[in-house]
Amino acid sequence: MTPSDRLPSLEAGPVLYARGATPVESQLTVLAVTREGDPAPVLEPEGGAARAMTRRAMLFGHAVWTSDFTLPAKDAAAYRVNGEPHTVRTDLGGDLRVAFVSCNGQEEGDEDRSHEDRDVMWRRLAQEHESDPFVLLLQGGDQLYADEAVKAHPETARWHELPVERRPEVAWEPAMAEAVRGYFFRRYLQLFRQPAMRILSAGVPTMMIWDDHDIFDGWGSHPPALQESPVALGLFAAAREMFVLFQLGAGPDALPTCVPDATGASLTHAARFPGFAVILPDLRSERTPARVMGEAGWRALTSVLAEVPDGDRRIVVSSVPALGPRLSLVEALLDFYPGQQQYEDDLRDQWQSRGHRAEWIRFLTALEREAIERAGPLTVVSGEIHLATRGEMRLRDGTAIHQLVASGITHPKPPRAMAIGLGLLSRLGHAPLRGRPVRLKALPGKSATYTAERNYLVLTRRADRWSAAWELEESGRTPALDV
Ligand SMILES: [Fe+2]
Repeated sequence: MTPSDRLPSLEAGPVLYARGATPVESQLTVLAVTREGDPAPVLEPEGGAARAMTRRAMLFGHAVWTSDFTLPAKDAAAYRVNGEPHTVRTDLGGDLRVAFVSCNGQEEGDEDRSHEDRDVMWRRLAQEHESDPFVLLLQGGDQLYADEAVKAHPETARWHELPVERRPEVAWEPAMAEAVRGYFFRRYLQLFRQPAMRILSAGVPTMMIWDDHDIFDGWGSHPPALQESPVALGLFAAAREMFVLFQLGAGPDALPTCVPDATGASLTHAARFPGFAVILPDLRSERTPARVMGEAGWRALTSVLAEVPDGDRRIVVSSVPALGPRLSLVEALLDFYPGQQQYEDDLRDQWQSRGHRAEWIRFLTALEREAIERAGPLTVVSGEIHLATRGEMRLRDGTAIHQLVASGITHPKPPRAMAIGLGLLSRLGHAPLRGRPVRLKALPGKSATYTAERNYLVLTRRADRWSAAWELEESGRTPALDV
């Protein structure tokens, strides 16, 4: 019996965040939520001294705590929080498996769905983990569908109903901030309490980057009257506060060292592991209809890329796919159909939007440089589209950048027509970088380019070779694809 055995059980957590690893140890942060007034949770890591966790926030009758710690590299390294034991696979020196998920929810009524139906794929992932533990869980956007945050207060609801040009007239009052923050807090708590998520978040260190729904649908791609209205900025501030806390595992005034932009304008972050690195550009914080990332974001991306050793694999988590069909064509078509604002925002969210073409080329050029000049095989993993697919961009040296799309872990599949339409569009092909054509392809074992089933992705490294396989709700596991 240890001193922590008598401490109260947690309200949520522990949640593990990956900060990097060497062949001898893993660097981690753990987060836990208690009731307000409960004592600090006690963390007891294998090979380290017991310690009280640090309080990062007091919110809505609860306290949120974190602690940075290391675990020795092992098949099953142990830690305890308030006496409860957990194990983590921290040996990242050789063969390993990484899970990738995205789109954990739906725009409306996400909370009304039964765990039975909603979390089928989460349960499958947790089961898989229990028989062969993952070393990392990457979450590529829309970890939370917060679209209904606007219903938290009558004035935010009124703002939501107003025509775009009248949105600036609604003020952001403290009571609205409180209601919206309360909504986010409650939803994040729910997320971490989901039974399969509990197993995974306590046993697999995670890295997450947000997409629009972690804020609200289309964040950054809306016209200025909406985007810059006091209520939109208030919603963003609440979403960001909770993102930093629950997705980055950090205090509001103390960003983790994996975030290079100390000003916090960009929450791009990265971590290095033996033989590979994970890079998560923040494609939302600085987004406007005319740009995907601002100066802070580009500086942060350049600096995290520069720190990856030559030859190491780069896994880039791009919340929206970096390779996709020629959506600029659809945008051009929509010009003939006025009143399609909703679709225009969705298209503007994409790297392929004609409004982002120069920046898209800059992004792909940066990735190509990593792959060729720094000899780092590069894999992009993305979500966003609620379909599974993959793409390749052939490089000058004969190698390819792989784009793997896995979405969503709980978001329902879209209508079949969507998969077919995108499939047709993808046949057109294009080459944003001259002479390096982008090709979209079916998943291994499938004939159509897009698969409309809920899914997650598993990346495997065996004897230094990486492969990817999708787990599909109805068709099961795809054959592995070398990447
Ligand atoms: Fe999504």
